[in-house]
Amino acid sequence: MLLDIEDLTLRVPSTEILRGISLQVGVGETVGLVGESGSGKSTTARAALKLFPDDATTTGSVTVCGSDILSAGPAEVQRIRANEAAMIFQAPRTALNPVRRIGDSATERLVHVHGVAKKVARSKIVELFAEVGLKDPERLLKLYPHQLSGGMLQRVVIASALSINPQLLLADEATSALDVTTQAEVLALLRRLRAQRELGVLFITHDLHLAAAYCDRVYVMRDGVIVDEQPGATIFENPANEYTRALADAVPRLPDREPDRELEVQP
Ligand SMILES: Nc1ncnc2c1ncn2[C@@H]1O[C@H](COP(=O)(O)OP(=O)(O)OP(=O)(O)O)[C@@H](O)[C@H]1O
Ligand SMILES: [Mg+2]
Repeated sequence: MLLDIEDLTLRVPSTEILRGISLQVGVGETVGLVGESGSGKSTTARAALKLFPDDATTTGSVTVCGSDILSAGPAEVQRIRANEAAMIFQAPRTALNPVRRIGDSATERLVHVHGVAKKVARSKIVELFAEVGLKDPERLLKLYPHQLSGGMLQRVVIASALSINPQLLLADEATSALDVTTQAEVLALLRRLRAQRELGVLFITHDLHLAAAYCDRVYVMRDGVIVDEQPGATIFENPANEYTRALADAVPRLPDREPDRELEVQP
């Protein structure tokens, strides 16, 4: 198991953000985590990297690639973040330092954590940029985040996360800011990597239909609790929970289109 969260409860002084979460991601598995805004999806994914609010307390366990991260010391946590698990953070514009060039941010971990020579790191990132569909990758290295579109930035953070060859990828709304065509390309890329590297992916989205289509298994989260767990392929057939059913039905539908009278030729 790449990620094994057992009965995780996370409290901050004002509230309980996660309440008894249990969730697993196996080798080569893509697992969806779906829920409305504020349900605790990002907090759950961040727990896998021991990224908690300062004043948080936890009970339960979080095991990443065999290491119990909640009791791990700083060096072990650093090792896991450097080698085993990488996160694609929600909102790439805030994930990147605005005054650093894209090339420096994207190669940071390879150079400073893995000790890879700058030149080697840059050529690896150029390769990954091309793989995620970024055009003219050499030129991109010299630019600043404000010079890139949201979709380009999202690809940059995906490439940066993949640069350390993680076993577990925590993808927090990794494709939500992309247009449908680009989203399909990035999803295909992640699927290819899953096959090539047996990458395990925790795929966070608020879109149940996307999760059902893309993921092997889907967890549905509400208000800090996992309320349903289903294979992606059959989630609409047997939603075990009323909330899942409500989410499945919560697709806006337009009324059947009336004939457009204004375009009718008047006699
Ligand atoms: N540092 C913090 N201190 C207090 N409350 C927090 C903190 N971080 C998150 N929360 C609260 O925890 C809840 C879950 O937040 P989280 O970001 O995990 O939700 P989410 O499901 O990822 O939402 P979204 O879809 O909007 O990204 C929210 O109610 C949020 O306000
Ligand atoms: Mg979130």
